[in-house]
Amino acid sequence: MYQQFFGFSEHPFNITPDPKFLYLSPAHREALSHLRYGIEQRKGFLVITGEVGCGKTLLCRTLLQSLDNSIFESAWLYSCQMSTEQLIRSVLKELEMPITKLPEHDHLDALNDFLLSKIKKGKEILLIIDEAQNLSYDLLESIRLLSNLETEQRKLLQILLLGQPEFKFKLNQSQLRQLKQRILVYYELTTLSLEETKNYINHRLSLVSKQAGFPKFTYGAFKRIYKYTRGIPRVINHLCDKALISAYARLTNKIEKKDICNAIEDIERLST
Ligand SMILES: Nc1ncnc2c1ncn2[C@@H]1O[C@H](COP(=O)(O)OP(=O)(O)OP(=O)(O)O)[C@@H](O)[C@H]1O
Ligand SMILES: [Mg+2]
Repeated sequence: MYQQFFGFSEHPFNITPDPKFLYLSPAHREALSHLRYGIEQRKGFLVITGEVGCGKTLLCRTLLQSLDNSIFESAWLYSCQMSTEQLIRSVLKELEMPITKLPEHDHLDALNDFLLSKIKKGKEILLIIDEAQNLSYDLLESIRLLSNLETEQRKLLQILLLGQPEFKFKLNQSQLRQLKQRILVYYELTTLSLEETKNYINHRLSLVSKQAGFPKFTYGAFKRIYKYTRGIPRVINHLCDKALISAYARLTNKIEKKDICNAIEDIERLST
C-alpha cells in the first residue's frame, strides 16, 4: 500500500523468516556461532529455545543457507502428532529417499542404512525439528533413539531442535533426563534491547530504501515500539507495518510516536 510512497523496493516488515533480512543482534550472532560450532564439531544434539517470534526459524534458515550444500543435506520437520514410524518415514522422505524404497517395516534399519550410504559419499545429515515444544514425550524419546545411530567413530545424524520457552521446561522434566544429557549445544535466544530494536528497524529499512535514513523513526517512536513489543521481532514487524500506514496517511516520511500509538490502537482493535 505504502511501498511506492516510501520508495521501497520491497516490503520491509514482512513476517516470513527471510534470511536476507537477518539482523545480527549479539544474541542472534552468538546463537548462530553456537550452531555452527556444534555442527562443525558434530556434537550430535543441538537445541535453541526462545520466545515466540524472536527469530529461531530465521536463524536456522540462515544457518542452512551458509552450509556447503555439496556436503550438507537436511530434513526439516515441523513437529506434529505422529508415531516413531511416521517420524522416520518423514525424515527419509525429506532426505529424498526414493519412495519405492521406503520399507513397510524396520524403518530404523532403513534409516541407518540410508545414512551410512550418505556418509560414505561424504555427506553430513542434519535433522531440524521446528516447534519442538509440541513434541510428545514419546516422540522425544524416539528422537533420542535416532541420535543413537552411530558408527564406532561418529554420529550418523545431527539433530537440531527449535522450541519456545515451554520446551526448556519440558526438557527439565525427569522423564527426559536421558535426552537432556545428550544436548551438547544449547542456546536460549533473547529478545532485543531498546538499542537493538532501533538497529533492527533501521537495518530492515536500509535493505529496501532508495534513500538512506528515510523514512525516519523518531526516538520517541522507537521507545514506544520497544515498550509495546518488548523487543520481539515478529511483533515489531507487525507494529512497524501499521505505523508506516499511519505515516503514509499523513503523507510524511517521519514516523513519530503518534503513528506508533495509532498502530497499537489498530492492532488492539483487531484483537478484541
Ligand atoms: N534477527 C532478526 N533479523 C531480522 N528479522 C528477524 C530477526 N529475528 C526475527 N526476525 C523476523 O521476525 C519474524 C519472526 O521470526 P521467526 O519466525 O524466525 O521466529 P520464531 O522464533 O521461529 O517464532 P515461533 O516461536 O513462532 O516459531 C520473521 O519475520 C523474521 O524475519
Ligand atoms: Mg519458528
